[in-house]
Amino acid sequence: MTNKIQIAIDGPAGAGKSTIAKIVAEALGYTYIDTGAMYRAVTYKALKRNIKLNDAKALEEMLLGTSIELKPSENGQLVYVDGEDVSQLIRSNEVTNNVSQVSAHPNIRKILVNMQKDLASSGGIVMDGRDIGTQVLKEAQLKIFMSASVEERAKRRLLDNESRGILSDIETLKKEITKRDKLDSEREASPLIQADDAIYLDTTNLSIIEAADVILKLARDKME
Ligand code: DC
Repeated sequence: MTNKIQIAIDGPAGAGKSTIAKIVAEALGYTYIDTGAMYRAVTYKALKRNIKLNDAKALEEMLLGTSIELKPSENGQLVYVDGEDVSQLIRSNEVTNNVSQVSAHPNIRKILVNMQKDLASSGGIVMDGRDIGTQVLKEAQLKIFMSASVEERAKRRLLDNESRGILSDIETLKKEITKRDKLDSEREASPLIQADDAIYLDTTNLSIIEAADVILKLARDKME
C-alpha cells in the first residue's frame, strides 16, 4: 500500500468537497489543492483592480502578471496573491457571486489548469474543483463526483458563513447556489460534468467523517 495515487474530487458548490478532501489528504499524508481558490484569487484581484469581468483579454493580461501561491497550513490551505494572504478575502460574497463569470473564460482556465497540472506532478494529491476528473487529472486513479441537495448545500453555506461572521439567509443562498450551478454546468469551457469513470457520492445524508471514510476506503483499494 505504498504507491501514491491522484484523487480528483469534483462537484457543485457546497457539496462538501473542500472539507472532505482536506480530511482525506491529511489521513493519507497527501497534498490537498483547492482549485476553486485559484479562480477566486483571480476574481478577487480583478475586482480590486476594477477590471471588467467579461473582458477575457484584460483578465489574461492581469493573470500573467500575477503570482498565485497555495501554502498548506494547520488551518487549511492558505492562498497568496502577489505575496498578500487573501485566504479570507477570496471567500467574500462579492467574490463568490462573481467567480463563475471569471471561470467561464477558456483562456483563464487554460492558464490555471496548467498551473494545477504542475502542482499535481509530484503525486500523492487530492485535488478538488469542477473539471479535475475531466481536464486536469484525466489519469487520476480515483475520481469522485460529489453532490448534495440544494437545500442541504444552502444550509451548509449558511453555517459556514456564520462561522466567518457573514450574515445570510437560506432562501437567498439557495437562489445563489442554483444560479452558480447553472452557470458552472452550462458554460462552454469545461462545464461541470461527471467524468465517465467517476464514482457518484451523494453527501446529503452523510456526515463529513462518513463521506471521508467512503473515499478513504476507495483510495486504499486503489493503492493495493
Ligand atoms: O469550489 P469554489 O466554490 O471555491 O469554486 C469557485 C468557482 O470557481 C466555482 O463557481 C466554479 C469555479 N471553478 C471552476 O470552474 N473550476 C474548478 N476546477 C474550480 C472552481
